[in-house]
Amino acid sequence: MQLGFIGTGEITSAMVAGLCSFGTTSHSIRLSPRNAAVARELSNRFKGVSVASSNQEVLDHSDTIVIAVRPPDARGVLSELRFDLDHEIISLVSGLSLLSLSRLVPPATRIARAVPLPSTARRLGPTPIYPAEPAALNLFAELGTVFPVETEREFDAIYATTATIASYFAFVERIASWLAQQGIPESKARDYIGRLFFGLTTTAVEAPERSFQSFAANHATAAGINEQFLKHMVERGLLTSASEALDAVFHRLNAQSQTPDGRRPFDTTGILKDV
Ligand SMILES: NC(=O)c1ccc[n+]([C@@H]2O[C@H](COP(=O)([O-])OP(=O)(O)OC[C@H]3O[C@@H](n4cnc5c(N)ncnc54)[C@H](OP(=O)(O)O)[C@@H]3O)[C@@H](O)[C@H]2O)c1
Repeated sequence: MQLGFIGTGEITSAMVAGLCSFGTTSHSIRLSPRNAAVARELSNRFKGVSVASSNQEVLDHSDTIVIAVRPPDARGVLSELRFDLDHEIISLVSGLSLLSLSRLVPPATRIARAVPLPSTARRLGPTPIYPAEPAALNLFAELGTVFPVETEREFDAIYATTATIASYFAFVERIASWLAQQGIPESKARDYIGRLFFGLTTTAVEAPERSFQSFAANHATAAGINEQFLKHMVERGLLTSASEALDAVFHRLNAQSQTPDGRRPFDTTGILKDV
């Protein structure tokens, strides 16, 4: 794959590191010159990665283009570029709908949206993709597990769940800090809590047929300390608040993906409708 990245920041770094896990890559990777320091560092570190002199040069030497600029920059950056019909576009830009993208990258028509996470650097990323374009599916299969979805609404819903990441870290930080307050050295407390959740997550991932609720029930022995803690959290509305916050995030993403008149631009097969 002749792979080009427009925007060389955090998520491009993670993807390139994942694709070059063994020091090199089977792809030819061309990076846009911004951010210069990050692009230089990646091209020095990995064989098969080079820095283009301009965004247009990235396009001119690539068959698959990953758009990885910040949302406020995306329209301005894309509108200055000349795309080809043969280009495969993979946009990572939050809130930029498929319809908006299709208007920014003509005459290219093969367009997918994806939400990779920093864990792609370790090839552990779960990546939702819509629509299920083969170029995007193949690329992200190298970087972890792909989750193709059927509609842009589903894509927004799965995207909404990534809004929980900061809260997850805040939650585990609170637990580790509490442990440190009890006299456990901070680094030891973090290590213990990290491994506690790592073990639980690994067990759950390895048993996809089991619901998270069944794990909760297994651990919440009657009158035990897990039941006590869970009851406390439920009574104070923690789980209800999580659902409400997800609804709010989903509503925001969903609104961004709709056309100005509120209709959705794609049917369930991902084909552009005439709007
Ligand atoms: N980080 C994540 O975990 C994550 C996950 C999923 C999706 N995303 C999406 O991916 C996109 C990038 O996120 P990020 O976290 O990687 O952001 P980032 O670290 O800020 O990277 C954005 C990069 O775009 C560069 N840039 C700015 N203007 C440009 C231009 N005119 N031409 C080419 N490059 C330009 C920036 O360069 P300067 O530093 O010089 O400004 C920066 O290197 C966002 O739309 C975000 O919504 C991110």
